Amino acid sequence: MKDYLTRRGFIRTTAAGSAALTWLGARRGPNVFAAGAAKPALLGGTPAHKGGWASWPQWREAWEPKLLEMYRSCKWFRGSGSNVTDFENGYAQMLDAKKCLATASGTTALIVSLHVMDVDAGDEVICSPYTFIASYNAILNSKALPVFADTDPATLTMAPATIESRITERTRAIMPVHIFGMPCDMDAINAIAKKHKLAVIEDACQAWLAEYKGRKCGTLGDLGCFSFQESKHIPSGEGGAITSNSEELIDKCNSFHNCGRACGTNQGTGSFTRGNNYRITQAQAVLLLQQFEKLQKETAIRRANADHLSANIGKIPGITPVRLPENSRAVWHLYPFRYNPAQFDGLSREKFMKALQAEGVPCSAVYREQYFDGLLDEAINSRGYKRLWSAARLKSYRDSFNDLKGNKQVCDTTVAMTQNILLGDRSDMDQIIEAVRKIQTHSAELVKRA
Ligand SMILES: Cc1ncc(COP(=O)(O)O)c(C=O)c1O
Repeated sequence: MKDYLTRRGFIRTTAAGSAALTWLGARRGPNVFAAGAAKPALLGGTPAHKGGWASWPQWREAWEPKLLEMYRSCKWFRGSGSNVTDFENGYAQMLDAKKCLATASGTTALIVSLHVMDVDAGDEVICSPYTFIASYNAILNSKALPVFADTDPATLTMAPATIESRITERTRAIMPVHIFGMPCDMDAINAIAKKHKLAVIEDACQAWLAEYKGRKCGTLGDLGCFSFQESKHIPSGEGGAITSNSEELIDKCNSFHNCGRACGTNQGTGSFTRGNNYRITQAQAVLLLQQFEKLQKETAIRRANADHLSANIGKIPGITPVRLPENSRAVWHLYPFRYNPAQFDGLSREKFMKALQAEGVPCSAVYREQYFDGLLDEAINSRGYKRLWSAARLKSYRDSFNDLKGNKQVCDTTVAMTQNILLGDRSDMDQIIEAVRKIQTHSAELVKRA
């Protein structure tokens, strides 16, 4: 934290271009503040932001003694030292969850949770299509079918109103994804789950400390799953966790992730239950244990910067920040907004992103319509899936991808920046805002550029 605050400092003022800001006037409405004189970098102007962004992941020398101590102790496996349980207790406490189980990854946290919530071969799970592909793969791992609710273009998360029409007699669970650390509308989702007696497994793999109505994501359904992979806000290379307010469920998760061994309330004789090895190591836990405070401090910085961006780029016609559910707080694993080329003289999203990147602001379109990529076709054309579902069901399932109009809109119009950018200072954020304004002012010229 200190590193980048002192390094980046507060001495920089907004770029020279901002001094030349002018009111753009009637073309795009009276509230548009635009950098009339400053040329976009792609047209030969000076980039709005210079000097890069905080690197990720980050190392702290202060972490070294604990890691060395763990390695020297030769207690590396989860069962032989206390770091993993210390981490689990601390993480549960930070989230105000009753229990936590650390796992090898976010994917394995999802796999374990689906098994424990009794998702079996031939079952269906309602999932968000707008997510990292691991959400799909975890469901496929159970030989179940990921059935997609549509995405709400305003929130980028699962639209609760589109869930019930997808429920069949085979549906066992709903898996909402708090994508980019933005909470789903969990009251609505939980109410549907309760009505149809479905389990709720939150994919909170990007949502450490995100809050919905005063409670943390990952504690709002039956089980919540987290990832600590290297890009994440609390990284350990690989790693994951499951949180819950049910001790019994976490004990079952523990058994399944530990080769089927008995745990706590989940007792039996001999090899009484199935299991796998999805254990985390002590080394990962040592890294994670030392990052609680860093995570909390950086979350506050990301939130403040995201609020500033939303309040300002949201004033630029054609840029729509996301809407969060009432009384909720995101943690912004990515900072997304939706882009409308019509307000930029028809400048395509690809060209807009190129122009923004040239301003020194890395950005991307993030997720495609991944259900057309091939993995689901491979699954439903496999021997196993053909045995488990009728040809008619597999056809209607495949056809249903074309109904995901909200998700298509989101995939076609979203632009996002990565979380490390939100660790910049206020002047960095102002430079991003200025970059977008510059691009809009000069969009007609940018359209003509190859
Ligand atoms: C939404 C989502 N779900 C699941 C995962 C899987 O986590 P892991 O990479 O730790 O297996 C990720 C990781 O990027 C994710 O972003």
